[in-house]
Amino acid sequence: MLHLAVLISGNGSNLQAIIDAINRNQLNAKIDVVISNKENAYGITRARCAHINTSLCIKDDVQTTNEKIMNVLSNYQIDLIVLAGYLGFISKELIQQYPNKIINIHPSLLPKYGGKGMYGIHVHEAVIKNKETESGCSVHYVNEQIDGGQVILQAKVPVLANDTPQILAARILPHEHQLLVETIKLFISHCHR
Ligand code: GRF
Repeated sequence: MLHLAVLISGNGSNLQAIIDAINRNQLNAKIDVVISNKENAYGITRARCAHINTSLCIKDDVQTTNEKIMNVLSNYQIDLIVLAGYLGFISKELIQQYPNKIINIHPSLLPKYGGKGMYGIHVHEAVIKNKETESGCSVHYVNEQIDGGQVILQAKVPVLANDTPQILAARILPHEHQLLVETIKLFISHCHR
């Protein structure tokens, strides 16, 4: 069984996709803890409804936030850390402590529309502004460059003529859910016989 820690900052629909896949026996995995850096993240409610441990890691600065995260994670035997709508900096120390064990879901076809400032709706605004005809989502390893780690899986989604950023975001989101679950399945098949 793959032991997961999921980091969130907001709605937690990607977290919910993992919870639902586990409950449908599509993933031989267990979410040991959900960590949020935002007190009012609805994803915390989703975790509590699923009887999953939650922890708030909100510190004044990035370094202490990451130290708190590592402290929480040290209570478990985590195989894979999933950033699911997590809007926070991951420190070098955390990356080094979990080499090739931290993944992130990003709502674009990386390396396009990734990096500093490219998160949430801003991604889709830029895609539409540049008149792209396709976008999508990517799951990648987390390294010290924001959205810069090796891409693991991607899914393409068409951009339609009258799309607003909100409509495009809504079209991509279900593909994110599916891609994230597929990526975790890959980890289960490769790392855990
Ligand atoms: C998603 O578009 C995700 O790609 C981005 O944050 C959005 C909300 O994710 N990182 P969630 O509903 O909080 O999982």
